[in-house]
Amino acid sequence: MLHDTAVVILAAGQGTRMKSRKAKVLHRAGGKTLVRHAIDAALEIAPPGRIFVVVGHQAEAVRAEVEAAGVGVIHQTEQLGTGHALMCGEAELSGLGGSLVVCMGDCPLIRSEALAGLAESQQSSGAGATLLTTDLDDPTGYGRIIRNADGTVREIVEHRDATPEQRAVREINSGVYSFDAKAFWRHVHEIRNENPAREYYLTDMVAILIRAGRRVEAHKIADSSGLLGINNKVELAAADRIFRERKVRELMLAGVTIEKPETVTIDSGVQVGADTVIGPFAQITGDSVIGENCHIGACSIIHSSVLGDEAEVFPFTLISSSRLDAGAHAGPFARLRMDAHLGAGAHVGNFVELKKTKLGAGSKSMHLAYLGDSVIGAKSNIGAGTITCNYDGRNKHATVIGDGAFIGSNSTLVAPLEIADGAYIGAGSTITHNVPARSLAVGRARQVLKEGWKKKGL
Ligand code: UD1
Ligand code: CA
Repeated sequence: MLHDTAVVILAAGQGTRMKSRKAKVLHRAGGKTLVRHAIDAALEIAPPGRIFVVVGHQAEAVRAEVEAAGVGVIHQTEQLGTGHALMCGEAELSGLGGSLVVCMGDCPLIRSEALAGLAESQQSSGAGATLLTTDLDDPTGYGRIIRNADGTVREIVEHRDATPEQRAVREINSGVYSFDAKAFWRHVHEIRNENPAREYYLTDMVAILIRAGRRVEAHKIADSSGLLGINNKVELAAADRIFRERKVRELMLAGVTIEKPETVTIDSGVQVGADTVIGPFAQITGDSVIGENCHIGACSIIHSSVLGDEAEVFPFTLISSSRLDAGAHAGPFARLRMDAHLGAGAHVGNFVELKKTKLGAGSKSMHLAYLGDSVIGAKSNIGAGTITCNYDGRNKHATVIGDGAFIGSNSTLVAPLEIADGAYIGAGSTITHNVPARSLAVGRARQVLKEGWKKKGL
């Protein structure tokens, strides 16, 4: 945390170049919205009470995302430019001294270390403003840093306003700045909209502060990957790829084995324990927590779920909002959803779907079953093809199966239904009445045998 630093994140623009109905900063990369990434970086350097996000376009939706992160909101009714966005926060911010760090809601890859380094450099040098800059091979679209012959910063020129010589400059303005707050608020109203876009450019503060006798410095960093601004869907995909690379690298350095890491998709909020092996093309998203020494098979998708240590997920399995206790197995080709829960060492195999169902410790359902709204005890066996008929066309009903029960293959269990401990259901039964402990229930037509029924010669 830095002393005496406030952060403003600009997020009021529409993002026309995204060609989307959704506000640009609400698009996702690395599993989080762009604005949330910027807020999370800011929270590493300043307390939530000193962080504000400027909202405008689709204000209500963006405000909801900002408030969920616990930071302040500033409203910019009309989007008249990045300089104007700051002016809208004068009431909240102009009383705060120290440094005013400004960053962009569409610059999600920014690292908190870069923000801290920028603010520290501005504070220690006493500059009126310090800009975070980098050299890009292709600087198209960015504001260019124009320096004097002695290397000091003179101004920032927007790409669309730049001369051909200025466009040849590869050093770009990242849109991240640290201002001396007092100087900033004293001079912010000197920004004019006398440019082809008729916008109040925040970048004009550079020339304004220099005119007022203050020094403006550039804090240039070599790793430009954190400064990528997202303006279209191609850049969104590029940012997503960088987040994915950062995450798999972090996990691998923490002891997770990832096969073909360039193919897996893991959200930044996911936790994975050491010695877990993740197969190619796996996706682990949301706030999933995976224990140690687990195995996540190729092409599995795990969303917002919790897996205990030693859990095994075989390939092509879908698990969402569910839980596997230690040593549980699922898949290949299984589907667990809406609070499905496998107890310790429980197994579900191929083409088994569990919805709002608990399968107790050591129980098994190995092939082709639908188990919905059910509670199944420990060490029970659910035969292939078992279906819980949980829906009567209007309401959902529960099926309760005790410990050590045996459900024969292709059983149809019509809920509401209770099958007690140790009960046995004959294969192919349709069960509509409760079955007491340790009894056998068979609900199917007896086999009829007609010997010699087939005519000779055919
Ligand atoms: C801006 C900079 C440019 C820099 C680039 C870095 C200006 C004038 N230009 O250009 O020098 O190289 O960022 O990515 O600042 N916004 C508002 N209110 C507004 C306008 C914009 O809040 O009235 C917000 C947008 O939501 C966005 C951010 O400011 O998050 C940047 O706006 P954008 O239009 O993308 O600026 P760039 O053209 O990329
Ligand atoms: Ca931008």
